[in-house]
Amino acid sequence: MVTPSASPFRLLSCLVVLLLLPLLSFAADPDPLQDFCVADVSAPPLLNGFPCKPASNVTSGDFFFDGLMKEGNTANTFGVNVTAADVGSFPGLNTLGISMNRVDFARGGINPPHSHPRATETGVVMKGKLLVGFVTSGNVFYSKVLTAGQMFVIPRGLVHFQKNVGEGKALALTAFNSHLPGVEVLPLTLFASTPPIPNDVLTQAFQVEEDVVNSIRSKFAS
Ligand code: GLV
Ligand code: MN
Repeated sequence: MVTPSASPFRLLSCLVVLLLLPLLSFAADPDPLQDFCVADVSAPPLLNGFPCKPASNVTSGDFFFDGLMKEGNTANTFGVNVTAADVGSFPGLNTLGISMNRVDFARGGINPPHSHPRATETGVVMKGKLLVGFVTSGNVFYSKVLTAGQMFVIPRGLVHFQKNVGEGKALALTAFNSHLPGVEVLPLTLFASTPPIPNDVLTQAFQVEEDVVNSIRSKFAS
């Protein structure tokens, strides 16, 4: 039973929760509450990040990362290689709300349609010529061919791609407003999940016969 004194308090609490809900669902990574929190990646992740390793064990090396120096191996189905500098590979990023990728393209290579559920992406073409495009939630396609020095932005969560349309290799550096943006690569998400999405879901969704689905699956079988 609601007591007369508890009722206004409850109403106020509900109001506060309702007002905060949109903030929680639209927020990017939460702001840090300390200078840094170098991830202890050997520990299980907490609710929203890794625990900090003790400050006494933090060294200069925790704040520098040379993993993006080397060209990635693009000898694969898509002719692309994404090297991630996120909290998994660069623990100093933990809780700081940023990360980067190095994306190498073979001639004709494609970074296939994908999305980052937790981040907006920006990028700069360092070498070559890339067709960069994304599709909005209203199904509008925006794209442009970019050359070295030109930038792009992909609003959070939207499906996007880059395709090398130049004569040689290409390279882009991308950055995210999350220490772990996550990625869903649509061809793999839909046709190579574990366990697989049932064939009749895909035939119905794409309005094709089962052999088409099986043929696409066979390209991504590991
Ligand atoms: C490019 O789209 C990337 O995710 O690095
Ligand atoms: Mn991306």
